[in-house]
Formats: sequence, C-alpha cells, structure tokens
Amino acid sequence: MNKESVIIIENVTKRFPVGEGEFTALKNINLQFKRGEFTGLVGPSGSGKTTLLNIIGSLDSPTEGKAIVLGKNISDLSHQESALLRNKHIGFIFQVYNLLPVYTVFENVEFALLLQDYSKEERKKMVMEALEWVGLAGMADKKPDKLSGGEGQRVAIARAMVKRPEIVIADEPSANLDAANTHAILKTMKQLNEELGTTFLFSTHDEKVMGYLERIIHLRDGAVEEDEIIEANIINR
Ligand SMILES: Nc1ncnc2c1ncn2[C@@H]1O[C@H](COP(=O)(O)OP(=O)(O)OP(=O)(O)O)[C@@H](O)[C@H]1O
Ligand SMILES: [Mg+2]
Repeated sequence: MNKESVIIIENVTKRFPVGEGEFTALKNINLQFKRGEFTGLVGPSGSGKTTLLNIIGSLDSPTEGKAIVLGKNISDLSHQESALLRNKHIGFIFQVYNLLPVYTVFENVEFALLLQDYSKEERKKMVMEALEWVGLAGMADKKPDKLSGGEGQRVAIARAMVKRPEIVIADEPSANLDAANTHAILKTMKQLNEELGTTFLFSTHDEKVMGYLERIIHLRDGAVEEDEIIEANIINR
C-alpha cells in the first residue's frame, strides 16, 4: 500500500550553543514517516531522541535541513502557525503527564479543545469518547490525585487524542509505569492507531514498548544507526 509521508526529515542537523562553542545533537538525519506508522526512536541517553521529537512536534527547528510535517516546513512557520499546527494536528504524551490538580479528569482533557471552535456540547461528546477510548469514562469527575500512575497516563493519552490529531508524539510514555500499566497503555495506543489511523512516534528505552513497535529507529550520537522494520508487529497494513 502506498501511503503518504506525514513527516519528512531531510538532512536535518541540530546544534545547541554550549558555553563558547556548540554541541551537535543531530547529524544529517534523513527519515520519512508514513500515515499510520507506529514507530519508536531508541538509543542511549543523549543520542538525540527528544531533540528529534521536539523538531517533529514543531517545538524546535533544525539548524540545517528541512523538517516537513503534514506538508509544512516547520522552519517557515511563524510562532502562531506552529502553535496552530500543534493545537490541531499533533498530540503530545510525556513521561510526566502534568495533569492540572485542581481540575477534574474531564476538564483536563477538555483543555486540549478550548483553543478551537467547538461548542460545549461537542466538547462534552469528544471528551467522553476519548475517556472511553482509554477506559476512564467512569472517572470523568475525579481529581487527578485520586488516580493511579497508570490512570494518570491514560488521561494524558485521552488529552492527546481528544482532538483526533494526525500525529501523536510520545516521549518515554512508560518511564514511570509498572509492567502491567505499560502493556495496558501500549495496547490502547495500538488500538487507536489501528482504528483512527493516527501516526504514533515514540522515544523509549523500554523493551516492553519495543515489543509493540512496527519500526524501530536506532539513534547513536545524533545519527541513525539502523532503521529496522518489525514485520511481526505489522497488522492490517
Ligand atoms: N537546549 C539544549 N542545549 C544544549 N544541549 C542540549 C539541549 N538539548 C539537548 N541537548 C544535548 O543534546 C543531546 C541529545 O539530547 P536529547 O535530549 O535529544 O537526548 P535523548 O536521546 O532524548 O536522551 P534521553 O534518553 O536521556 O532522554 C544531549 O547531549 C543533550 O545534552
Ligand atoms: Mg529524551
């Protein structure tokens, strides 16, 4: 099947100023990601995983080369345009899920929709559907301090998915979870990937997460060491 590339990384180099000099975190990276991929960046600490995810998420831009996300060269976007790309089209899941403690689970997920023009009724329907996707519809009125770590990360998945983004970026989503919760959230994300066609891009050190990935990109010292397709994990494509 020939699917379009939703992310094109072309000769991307990223340098950070450090003291008087600079540090090269990404060295001439070339990668493409097609719609519906379930892919992970893997590699030692400092290999450039988060740096690359931040560029794809338009939170940062390359020093050299091009990152084209959903047809847009992110280096050309104004502050406002890149905010719009993130608000509408890219969901983020982090190691620390950062739920706002004084708001309910429902409200925490609803926040992801407030910058867009949905009516209150539409928002309610979308939030409850997203909470159902992650198995937490019954906890909509709870405050985050009543949740377990696994439940908290499920709310974060609902918050990332509620706007039905084309791309979800998950930077070490299982780092604070035990084995059972890690398997549970990965199964949920895989199911959403299959049902909604969302492209998922992870960074991880976790062998359990790797067991679900369809493609593993090994980074070392800011370069792609290996781009591995895991045929056994590719379903329905
Ligand atoms: N803003 C910055 N300024 C200077 N150096 C940076 C900056 N951001 C990242 N780096 C450096 O770039 C390198 C890559 O960092 P990055 O966070 O992408 O690694 P990573 O693969 O995500 O590591 P980890 O597995 O620990 O999360 C590291 O050496 C880091 O210190
Ligand atoms: Mg990182």
